[in-house]
Amino acid sequence: MGTPHNNAGTGDFGKTVLMPGDPLRAKFIAENFLTEAKLVNNVRGVQGYTGSYNGVRVSVMASGMGMPSIGIYSHELFHFFGVENIIRVGSAGAISPKLALRDVVFGQAACTDSNYAHQFGLSGHFAPIADYTLLETAVRTAREMGIEPAVGNLLSSDVFYNKAGDTMKWGEMGVLAIEMESAALYCNAAESGRRALTICTVSDSLVTGKELPPEDRQTGFTQMMEIALKTAAVMDGTRL
Ligand code: HPA
Repeated sequence: MGTPHNNAGTGDFGKTVLMPGDPLRAKFIAENFLTEAKLVNNVRGVQGYTGSYNGVRVSVMASGMGMPSIGIYSHELFHFFGVENIIRVGSAGAISPKLALRDVVFGQAACTDSNYAHQFGLSGHFAPIADYTLLETAVRTAREMGIEPAVGNLLSSDVFYNKAGDTMKWGEMGVLAIEMESAALYCNAAESGRRALTICTVSDSLVTGKELPPEDRQTGFTQMMEIALKTAAVMDGTRL
C-alpha cells in the first residue's frame, strides 16, 4: 500500500503513533526511547519509525507544522494504516499566566482560528476535543510520574506571525496555550472514530516573552515523551 505522502506498508505502524512536529525529533524519539526502531516512512523527509517500548509496538512520525500538514498525515494514519491512537507531542506558547516554561499541558480541547472543520458540512461550530480515555490515561500516567499536568483548552492557530494581535484575548477565555495542529488532529480523530490527544511542553510564553533555547526544544522534552510512551503502552490493552 502507501499514499502520496507515506510509503509505509500495511501493518507497518503500531496501534499508537506519537507525532512531534519536527522530523528530527521523530528520529530522536526513535533512537533514544524505542528499541529495534525501523524507518517505515521517509517521503519528504517526514520520518516515521516503528519500534518497541517496554515490549509494546509503538510508532513515531512527524506531523510537520500546521493544520494542513497534520491533517494529511493523521487522516492517512487513521484511514489507511489502521492507527487507533495519535498522541501529538509538541511545543506550545503559553498564553495563560498560570503556565511556566517547560510545563506539560494536555489539550482537553482545541479552539481554532482555522476553517478546517468547514469540510464536514456542519451548520454550526464543531468543538474539537481530546479522546477522554487517552486523556484520562495520560493524566494518571503523569501523576504516577510525579508530574501534575495543566489540562485545558489550547488555541490551534493557522498563523504564527499574527498581525491581528488578539491572541491574548483567548487567554481571557481561559485558553492555556497556543500551537498550530491540535484542532485538525481532533477533528480527524472524530471523523474517523479514532482517538487523539495533544501533549505539549511550554517552549515560550506570550505572557512573559521568555523562551527556551533551541537545544531544549530538541532534547528537553523527555518528560512529555515518557508520558506519551507510557500512555501508548497502557492503550495497547484497550479497544476502540
Ligand atoms: N505560536 C504558535 N505555535 C507555537 C508557539 C507560538 O507562540 N510556540 C510553540 N508553538
